[in-house]
Amino acid sequence: MKAPAVIDQLAVLSDAIRVRMLAVLEGRELTVSELCDVVQLPQSTVSRHLKTLAEGDWVTSRRDGTRRLYTLPLDDVESSARRLWQVVREQASSSATLAHDERRLKQVLTRRRTQSEAFFSSSAGQWDRLREDLFGPTSHLRALVGLLDPDLVIGDLGCGTGAVSQLLSPFCDRIIAVDASKEMLEAARENLAGQKHVELRQGSLEKLPIENGELDIALMMLVLHHLPEPKRVLAEAARAVKPAGRVLILDMLPHEREEYRQTMGHVWLGFTDKQMTAWLHAAGFKGVRWRVLPAEPKAKGPSLFVATARRAPLQF
Ligand SMILES: C[S@@+](CC[C@H](N)C(=O)[O-])C[C@H]1O[C@@H](n2cnc3c(N)ncnc32)[C@H](O)[C@@H]1O
Repeated sequence: MKAPAVIDQLAVLSDAIRVRMLAVLEGRELTVSELCDVVQLPQSTVSRHLKTLAEGDWVTSRRDGTRRLYTLPLDDVESSARRLWQVVREQASSSATLAHDERRLKQVLTRRRTQSEAFFSSSAGQWDRLREDLFGPTSHLRALVGLLDPDLVIGDLGCGTGAVSQLLSPFCDRIIAVDASKEMLEAARENLAGQKHVELRQGSLEKLPIENGELDIALMMLVLHHLPEPKRVLAEAARAVKPAGRVLILDMLPHEREEYRQTMGHVWLGFTDKQMTAWLHAAGFKGVRWRVLPAEPKAKGPSLFVATARRAPLQF
């Protein structure tokens, strides 16, 4: 007996990557390389899944000049497949992975608009490309560090190999970089050789080797997700910054990459705005600002947020 069509349709939809690809392709056309950027997978994987989707009549493609565009033509797929997709789409809509895909899709579509504007002789678009060719993608961002008041004492907490301290050191007179790992600090010492205004201290973020109020700014870049008790660590950071001093946290939005626990020792799979704001308030910080950073085109990790807040000033 020939299996009913729905069995084949279920088989195609039983793969999480194909569901993500269909969600991205619903209602829009993308090239293979754009799809790769959105789902952060290599071209060979994306092409293999596209082949399965095309064989099951889930996606169609058309040639447009030198490129090929793929889409999920929902109005043209068989009615049982359409109903099935609607159920799967609804179930998947609360997934953090799909939310990350959606964010990267916006970047890809914006980039496409910029590229096409540049193509239609916009000198602005050409200048962006030329600036990147000549000076790299981050030179203007590095220059903005010069806006920091040089007198500020900055704590680079969980400094790792010292990349952030290196970025700050031309503009700041005193940086205290702390890390628990001897190996990381050794690498930081090499990277920051000769920069006497950067003090490297070994210690834990739970009990910082920093005096009360020694810092004006505490930075925690990509470290909080490693720590079992972020709330305690934020309270410790509040102790180390002066009244009215500031904290800045860079970390991941909630995601579903369970494998990071084993491969990189992550304790938290990202943080929400609500969670972070509540912890910062409990630690004595006020005026929390939360911003999601635009996804970098070739980045393979989850989307990032920046949270900043200020310790309450002294009351007289
Ligand atoms: C992912 S790295 C980030 C390094 C750096 N902030 C950066 O952005 O390049 C996390 C760092 O936090 C350090 N770390 C993890 N748990 C820590 C703890 N409890 N106390 C101090 N440092 C810690 C690790 O040794 C590691 O160097």
